[in-house]
Amino acid sequence: MSFEDAPIDAASAERLARSGLELRLVDRTDQAAFDAWLQADNRGFHDPADDPAGLAEVRAHQPSRRTTGVYDPQGLIDEPVGTTQSWVAPLTVPGGAAVPLWSIASVTVAPTHRRRGIARALLESELRTAAADGQPIAGLTASEATLYGRYGFGVATFGETTEIETARVRWTGPDAPGRTRFADPAALLPEALAIIDRLRAVQPGAIAYDDFKVGLAIGLYGRDRARVRAVRYADAAGVPQGFAAYSLSPDPRDFTKHTVTVRALLGATDEATAALWRFLLELDLVATVRAADRPVDEVVNWQLGDLRAARRTRADRLWLRILDLPVALEARRYAAPAAVVLEVDDPLGFAAGRFLLEVGPDGTGRVQPLAGEAPRGAASVALPIAELSAIYLGGVAPVTLARAGRIAELTPGAALVLERAFAAERAPWMTLEF
Ligand SMILES: CC(C)(COP(=O)(O)OP(=O)(O)OC[C@H]1O[C@@H](n2cnc3c(N)ncnc32)[C@H](O)[C@@H]1OP(=O)(O)O)[C@@H](O)C(=O)NCCC(=O)NCCS
Repeated sequence: MSFEDAPIDAASAERLARSGLELRLVDRTDQAAFDAWLQADNRGFHDPADDPAGLAEVRAHQPSRRTTGVYDPQGLIDEPVGTTQSWVAPLTVPGGAAVPLWSIASVTVAPTHRRRGIARALLESELRTAAADGQPIAGLTASEATLYGRYGFGVATFGETTEIETARVRWTGPDAPGRTRFADPAALLPEALAIIDRLRAVQPGAIAYDDFKVGLAIGLYGRDRARVRAVRYADAAGVPQGFAAYSLSPDPRDFTKHTVTVRALLGATDEATAALWRFLLELDLVATVRAADRPVDEVVNWQLGDLRAARRTRADRLWLRILDLPVALEARRYAAPAAVVLEVDDPLGFAAGRFLLEVGPDGTGRVQPLAGEAPRGAASVALPIAELSAIYLGGVAPVTLARAGRIAELTPGAALVLERAFAAERAPWMTLEF
């Protein structure tokens, strides 16, 4: 059985039934039912409704997704009043290995049915289904940062919206020996997927994407595809190493001041990333290049020749929720040897308990439940599962969380021991939209 057909969660179904609502899996091959679900999802995010061609495109190209709806039999239309979708995608962890991520998206509740516990029933249902399916960790992105901590999610990666004033840039990065050329999105798609996979191998926080998602980013699909331009960078040997997709909007008062909005800019090598940035920054008739959700350790900031040419605003990006603590913690590599006792509080029960994490000299971690005394010399902390999930990829500092009162040090200096062990080789970054 694939994750898509995992049975509906009985506890949430019963809870919703008590309010006269039905929790159901949506058959994506049932056109009317799936279209109605898609329109409910659009409405939930205040997006325009899809026209028939837009619906047909999603139906034709969206890959396997577990699609859930909450239905009100008293409703006047067939659209669900609550939606979620989930799927499993590999998430790169520090050291380069991948863990399967139970990815959750399209969490919406109709404004007519808000604050009646539908979102809670849907989220708990996702987490119980993922745990029952043996998945070690769940993740999502949030429209509001106040929603998901209550279910044990913590923010594990950040993104920066970067706005660069091109007139201030004096390129100081290396000259790229390869070539940047415009690319037809259909021809670019397989190359883009390969580039994403190579980047993913070295980038903690990166997840794998399907053809549809990448096709949307590069202008192959989607409502606004006509506005998207795509370029690809090939190195001196002719090997494609990076791609970018962007759109341009004019300043109505001054044709020399267009704004470039970057939809994707990904390089498998630093050379490719720098070359693509430089291409965009040196476009004629452009005053501003704007890119959302860039890495917090964006290399280009050190290649602009003027640190203040870029204005950056940081926001939470990937929220993680550890479900199977030993599997999740043993999947990643650690930066320093450590012996740490973790007293984990998990209100939903999946990962609660007392565990000993031991990191060997080679950076591998071993985790076991701890019943008795902590070994002599072990550091010891108490923390909620949301905080452990937040520090998991090395993108949030345990010392900061201890200073904020969100991690309790049971032995002095324990947060610093965690921080040194959990550090990642690069700031964790989710490379594209979820
Ligand atoms: C956000 C949304 C999913 C909440 O749905 P809902 O069914 O009204 O939520 P529930 O009644 O199940 O409430 C669950 C909990 O979240 C809290 N909550 C709900 N919406 C909230 C909000 N906007 N801000 C802060 N807390 C919120 C509730 O107080 C409740 O807390 P508790 O269980 O600890 O008492 C819904 O308003 C929505 O669809 N918004 C637009 C789409 C969206 O933003 N989706 C999330 C993106 S990933």
